[in-house]
Amino acid sequence: MKILAIESTCDETAAAVVESFGDGVRVLKSVVASSVEMHEKYGGIVPEVAAREQIKSIIPVITEAMSDEEVDAVAVSYGPGLMGSLLVGVETAKVLAWAWKKPLLKVNHMAAHVMANWILAESDTVSQWHTDTVPELPAVGLVVSGGHTDLILMESLTKWTWIGGTRDDAVGEAFDKAARILGLLYPGGPEIEKAASKVTEKEWKTNKNKFKLPRPLIHDPGLEMSFSGIKAAIARVVESKEYKDWISPFGDQRPYQVGNDKTNGVRFLDCARNDELKRNLVAREFSEAVIEVLVKKTMMAIEQYRLKSVVLAGGVAANNKLRETLKHEVERAGLSFHVPELKYCGDNAAMVGAVAILRREEAELDLKPEPSLATV
Ligand code: KG4
Ligand code: ZN
Repeated sequence: MKILAIESTCDETAAAVVESFGDGVRVLKSVVASSVEMHEKYGGIVPEVAAREQIKSIIPVITEAMSDEEVDAVAVSYGPGLMGSLLVGVETAKVLAWAWKKPLLKVNHMAAHVMANWILAESDTVSQWHTDTVPELPAVGLVVSGGHTDLILMESLTKWTWIGGTRDDAVGEAFDKAARILGLLYPGGPEIEKAASKVTEKEWKTNKNKFKLPRPLIHDPGLEMSFSGIKAAIARVVESKEYKDWISPFGDQRPYQVGNDKTNGVRFLDCARNDELKRNLVAREFSEAVIEVLVKKTMMAIEQYRLKSVVLAGGVAANNKLRETLKHEVERAGLSFHVPELKYCGDNAAMVGAVAILRREEAELDLKPEPSLATV
């Protein structure tokens, strides 16, 4: 059973051909086109621009993914996402299913992020695949993307219950907004990660209490999270006198000290390097804060439910610090930890194919996009 899967919920246009493989799926081909560079200059997604790019890319992307293959069904994510973008994928999928007289399968985009963890093998050419095992259930899924932050109890492939998550902004959105305040590019997640990773351990140890940010609801006994306050907190830090006047105590050891006039005792400082270091320190503090909250809440879910594994998913799951910290804690608690390969964390169609194969939810040809579809 081979499926053509289509993904067009936001600013990626993607198509993939997948088939079942053991308890999971194998990706035969996955193609992703992104309009992210066009959004970079606006510091965020412009829905009309995203939809227009979807229209341009959808046919070339499907053609590349399909080569000469015949497929048994067409699958598409029908929500959540931007209405204009969703329409492009959904209408294309309907036309193809109708023309080829194949079943049309509907897929929840957030479920697709989670089930990227069921991608076990791939082959662009037949010889290149890798194998792994699927997550053992029951599991808890931590789904972190630009629009969602959910903790999902997964008792089977279809019996999912929302047990926690954000009550306001999604964590990816917080990364994007924090980046904008710090003068970094969109999407903010990878930019913040890069900036944070430039801080050396020595710099961090000496300065980690300088620009403190809150860990919202971390001591709250529930599994709710909140990320809307942390942006305002960053803005407050960046506007504070302490931040504006901050001078690196590492002036003596770092190359940004361009001169040292011994005769009158004046130390010269390269202001650009100093500004970059303090910005990186705030980026690091921001990542520490949100990752601490995400890990703490996931570990609390482990204590409250009898689980076998934890699956991490969504665009923010590409964050290495989050991947490593959560893996460490989950394995220490004796559970198995799963996270998709990096290329299957962001939006892609292979994950859509995984849900289509493993859940097989047929749709009528009058399928409509659902921009606000919930994860469960
Ligand atoms: O899942 P996704 O590609 O699209 C949605 O369905 O929303 O997630 C995009 C989000 C963006 O907010 C982006 O900043 C964030 O994922 N992101 C990251 C990283 N890479 C992408 N956040 C933190 N660290 C990263 N390395
Ligand atoms: Zn997504």
